[in-house]
Amino acid sequence: MKCPMLMAKLKERDITKTIIMPKSKRHKYERVKQLPNVTFSEFGISQSPYLYPWYDNRYESMEKVLELGCGKAEHSLAFAADNPGNLYVGIDSKSPRICVGAEKAMDKGLENIFFLRAHIERIEQFFIEHSIHQIWLTFPDPHPKNRSIKNRLSAPQFLDAYASLLIPGGTVFLKTDSELFYTYTQKSVELWGGRVIAKSDNIHEADDHPLYARNIVSAFEKAARLNGSPIKYLAFQLTPQMYTPFG
Ligand SMILES: C[S@@+](CC[C@H](N)C(=O)[O-])C[C@H]1O[C@@H](n2cnc3c(N)ncnc32)[C@H](O)[C@@H]1O
Repeated sequence: MKCPMLMAKLKERDITKTIIMPKSKRHKYERVKQLPNVTFSEFGISQSPYLYPWYDNRYESMEKVLELGCGKAEHSLAFAADNPGNLYVGIDSKSPRICVGAEKAMDKGLENIFFLRAHIERIEQFFIEHSIHQIWLTFPDPHPKNRSIKNRLSAPQFLDAYASLLIPGGTVFLKTDSELFYTYTQKSVELWGGRVIAKSDNIHEADDHPLYARNIVSAFEKAARLNGSPIKYLAFQLTPQMYTPFG
């Protein structure tokens, strides 16, 4: 029988995967540990959020943007290149994916992007309350089964966390190919007491949707489009309006 506590620890440290994964992935597990732009969360260890690199004095005046479940972080990399005055943090639980994004950031000389390997369930441990301007959910796993609805990144406990991290009027953006996740998120935001400020059922069809959301296409999005899935987009707020993203 598997001990749940031990399995949780192994999962947190990615040890379960290192045992059975292919060599190329294993190399990324090793390489990512050497990268200066990647922070790891260790099981059971927490520190004051002020000590994380994104709160260094030199970034104090920069708007902070999180990409949750960033994968290889195509969106954050493109945003960071276009907006040198903003600071981006890509967060994912999978080291090999983070490794790809973090190495690309270094190759491109981007100094306004960090990566955090952590589970989003723990996000409040890494950021100060009301210090984040935008949160991006880029193609989150839809968790279609009833028993895993609580894992959807727009379930109420995640909205609570986002509301506590966002500045007043800060915005959450969603891109998804999942009709289920798109519909669920609108309902979840409404029940929570937030408001949808923009939406599109097919971001690549209408011209009136922001280019920043449309022009960046991750590998995951490309595959979804090849399958004929329309890409849906939402922007929503969970706090009073005081800030307008992108002017
Ligand atoms: C479908 S992929 C999308 C990746 C990327 N955003 C894109 O657009 O290509 C979902 C990503 O979310 C990450 N993820 C899912 N649940 C997570 C969680 N609870 N904490 C951290 N990462 C998570 C997965 O590891 C995966 O990289």
